[in-house]
Order: sequence, then C-alpha cells, then structure tokens
Amino acid sequence: MKFLLGIVVGLLLVPIAGFLYISFGNPPVAVADTPFPYEKQIVHIPLNARIHRDMPHTVPIEATPANLIAGAQIYHDQCAECHGVYGHPTDYAAHMYPPAPQLWWPHPWNKKVVGVSDDPPGVTYWKVANGIRLTGMPSFDHVLSTTQMWQVTLLLKHADEALPAQALAIVKQPIENTSKATQATPNVPPLPAPVAPAGSNKKK
Ligand code: HEC
Repeated sequence: MKFLLGIVVGLLLVPIAGFLYISFGNPPVAVADTPFPYEKQIVHIPLNARIHRDMPHTVPIEATPANLIAGAQIYHDQCAECHGVYGHPTDYAAHMYPPAPQLWWPHPWNKKVVGVSDDPPGVTYWKVANGIRLTGMPSFDHVLSTTQMWQVTLLLKHADEALPAQALAIVKQPIENTSKATQATPNVPPLPAPVAPAGSNKKK
C-alpha cells in the first residue's frame, strides 16, 4: 500500500514540478533569453521530418524571367520586411528569436550559396505555404496564390544565379525598415551580374 502511495505521489510530483518551473522558474520567453539546452535541435528535428514527408517534389512552373520578376515583387511586398533586401538587412531581424535569416546574404562559409538557394524548392515552398510555428514565419497559404508562392520560391532558389535585371532591381530596393543606403552592411559580396534584358534570358 505504502509502495503504491509512493508511486502516486511520485507521479503527481512530476506535473507539479513542471507547473512550478513554468510559473516561477523563468524559462526563456524574451528574445534575448538564453535558449533551452538543445532548443534548436529539438525544434528542427520534427520540422525537417515533417517537411520531408509533406513537401512537393515537382515544381509546377518554370523559372522564366516573368516568374522571377513576379517573385521579386512578391518578395519585396511580403517578405523583405523580415528577410531584408540585398545589401540592406532588416533592422529587427537579428532581434527576433529565432532570428529571421537574411535571404540575400551569401553564406559566410560558402559564398556561392545565397539565402536558401541550396534548399530544394519543395522545402522552401512548404515553409512559405505552412509557415513555421512559434517563429514569426507566417503561413502564406491564405495570403498568396499557389502560383505566387512558387514564384517567390523559384526566385529564392535562383538567388545565387544571374537574375533578370528587373528582378534584381526590385530585390535591391530598400524598404521602410531595412537600414538605409548609407548604413548598408559593407563587404557584402556582389550577386552575379543581372542578365539583360528581361525576356532574352535563355539560361534556366
Ligand atoms: C514577420 C516576419 C517574417 C515574414 C514577413 C516572412 N518570414 Fe520567412 N521567416 C521568418 C523567421 C523568423 C524565420 C526563421 C524560422 C526558423 O528559424 O525556423 C523564417 C524562415 C524562412 C525560411 C527558411 C529559411 C532557412 O534558412 O531555412 C524561408 C525560406 C522563408 N522564411 C521565406 C519567406 C518568404 C518567401 C516570405 C514572404 C512570402 C517570408 N518568409 C516572410 C520570418 C518572416
């Protein structure tokens, strides 16, 4: 009997301790708080597993100049606020948790990769369509059409390549909350020169 009681009390202690910790233990809630040990891994393992299970494996549209230019406009209107424009980071992106990655930044360890240009398009499309819970990355499923989500996905896939001049001009335009030209981050390696004129882009 005593033994059973011990088990019951032991079982009750776990949720009580958990409740006390979340109420009074100061778990991380502010952006600048120290993350839980392995917080990133704990979140990314199920996220990646889900994406690889559900992502589309074929891209229904081509990376034509028209689609890339449309993608650039969508990026400018819907994404640049958090993900920055080329050469101009968003003021608050680094002060989000997790931070919003700057999608026109060549990777520090491999400058050939720009933003998510190394990710399969299906992965980026899944993130745009579904968003990422508890991160600030919105779901655009009810904001953009399927075609628009693919257009912006293809733009990001081709961020490391020569883009139509018009698309590049749009993704370089600073927006309200990106740092202004004078404060633009120095030493950003140049993107490949644009291809001109739009429409004569044979490269795919
Ligand atoms: C309100 C801010 C916000 C807006 C607007 C936003 N995002 Fe995000 N996005 C985030 C954050 C924060 C993350 C990081 C999530 C994480 O670390 O898991 C993210 C992650 C991503 C990623 C994954 C990056 C990586 O390195 O794997 C992609 C791709 C992406 N966003 C694309 C877009 C596109 C395309 C748009 C516009 C259609 C957009 N986002 C609009 C905040 C935003």
